[in-house]
Amino acid sequence: MSIRTVNTRPFSDQKPGTSGLRKKVPVFRQPHYLENFVQSIFDSISAPHGATLVLGGDGRFYNRTAIQIILKMAAANGFGKVLVGRGGILSTPAASCVIRKHKAFGGLILSASHNPGGPDGDFGIKFNSGNGGPATESVTEAIFARSKIIEHYRFLDAGDVMLDRLGETTLGRMRVEVIDPVADYAELMEALFDFDAIRAALAGSFRIKFDAMHAVTGPYAREILVNRLGAPADSVMNAVPLEDFGGGHPDPNLTYAHDLVEIMYGADAPDFGAASDGDGDRNMILGRHFFVTPSDSLAVIAANATLVPGYRQGVAGIARSMPTSAAADRVAGALGIPCFETPTGWKFFGNLMDAGKVTLCGEESFGTSSSHVREKDGLWAVLFWLDILAVRKQPVETIVREHWAKYGRNFYSRYDYEALPTEAADGVMQHLRANFSSLTGKTFGPYTVQTCDDFSYTDPVDGSISKNQGIRILFSDGSRIIFRLSGTGTEGATLRVYLEAYEADVSRHHLDAQEALKELIEIALRISELQARTGRDQPTVIT
Ligand code: G1P
Ligand code: ZN
Repeated sequence: MSIRTVNTRPFSDQKPGTSGLRKKVPVFRQPHYLENFVQSIFDSISAPHGATLVLGGDGRFYNRTAIQIILKMAAANGFGKVLVGRGGILSTPAASCVIRKHKAFGGLILSASHNPGGPDGDFGIKFNSGNGGPATESVTEAIFARSKIIEHYRFLDAGDVMLDRLGETTLGRMRVEVIDPVADYAELMEALFDFDAIRAALAGSFRIKFDAMHAVTGPYAREILVNRLGAPADSVMNAVPLEDFGGGHPDPNLTYAHDLVEIMYGADAPDFGAASDGDGDRNMILGRHFFVTPSDSLAVIAANATLVPGYRQGVAGIARSMPTSAAADRVAGALGIPCFETPTGWKFFGNLMDAGKVTLCGEESFGTSSSHVREKDGLWAVLFWLDILAVRKQPVETIVREHWAKYGRNFYSRYDYEALPTEAADGVMQHLRANFSSLTGKTFGPYTVQTCDDFSYTDPVDGSISKNQGIRILFSDGSRIIFRLSGTGTEGATLRVYLEAYEADVSRHHLDAQEALKELIEIALRISELQARTGRDQPTVIT
């Protein structure tokens, strides 16, 4: 076994986005491509000699190959120990949990989240720090800078590590411990939620359906929902993780989780339905014939937090990403706690949590979590809802309607225009930037524009400033239209339009969201000239 220094050449396209480096599998399979990026990470994070690293991924195509390469590089770069999930598996929230629990220096998570997998699908990698959360912007910038000048990487010539059996082996002088990917995470969930109450509900007539979408949460859901909480085995569907997610798009929304949606809107629907994404950090919550928007889910969780053992002491504060609806703000207002509005992307929540300013956080993009980890956490949200339902013993729909009656309803929808030519998408944003200042004071039907801006965020903890985070058109009644470009797409550009209308009047709460938002959608299209500039009449996905 010997350590080699391999000559390589820099790549110019390894700029990590909001969730690490994401590229098509064929890009990652180019000679030296993965190795260069991994070495750029190791060169940028100044891990002390002998440090511990956590390693795992969502099991998609190329996961196992990448794990073996990274293990050999970690050994050659002086790491003392790597904790790797059996089979190379760790959901993103479980990786965050393992990093924190074992006080690792950090971790490498292999995932492209909800993007399709397979030989022609997507692959991704990101570095999380010792707090269990995504690396800060300065670290990701350093990694990118390094990747553009790198000339060699270090590699240990050794045989592959057996990933399928628990226990410790060595690789050169580095220890490799294959861990149960579920155990630490399940133990944390048991510490937060009232498993007895949920078990009692499931022993009665309460029925659930969880769709793992052939992605990483299958084994987690089986262990927690079936083995520990006693749900019937068929409560978990699509539970076997597949390298290509069965050809599906493992994103838990009404479009892609259609199998589950059909069941939850069918005759004899269960009481509760949920789905998670490729790497287990997203969640969708459904009741019988009822969809809970992620923004509402965060607000309901916040309003009911003290019913749940891990949150009995109350919530320090809430954080939501800017495009997420202001439903949580109303709960925070009622509780007398702060609500922070951050740019899109999970990393902004980490600082607030590390500083103890925030307990709960969420994004409209089906991401919810708390300070128990530093990632969003799909199954955690599912368990939170199950605990609330077990205590309140009411249907999901009743709980949400009572919530609206108390706080008002924030009608919400997001329109995604995917795979646009970059110039067309940029053109829409430039047009908006050039014109938004002239909109202030203008009236469109019942809506009057109060202010417009390009969202900028100053981190209250470290003072860092993030500019140009999306165009906000704010109306005087609290309604909003937001335009922003996705930072996670791998094909062309994705333009997102977020629509929100606030409605205090209970007699209008029964309206369908698309109906309630109709006028705002028309205003958004008119102001942005989106259809003419992109040639698209319809969005790719509406959530
Ligand atoms: C999307 C979501 C964002 C989320 C990110 C990672 O990013 O909108 O909320 O944090 O995926 O899951 P976007 O493609 O919009 O940049
Ligand atoms: Zn994800």
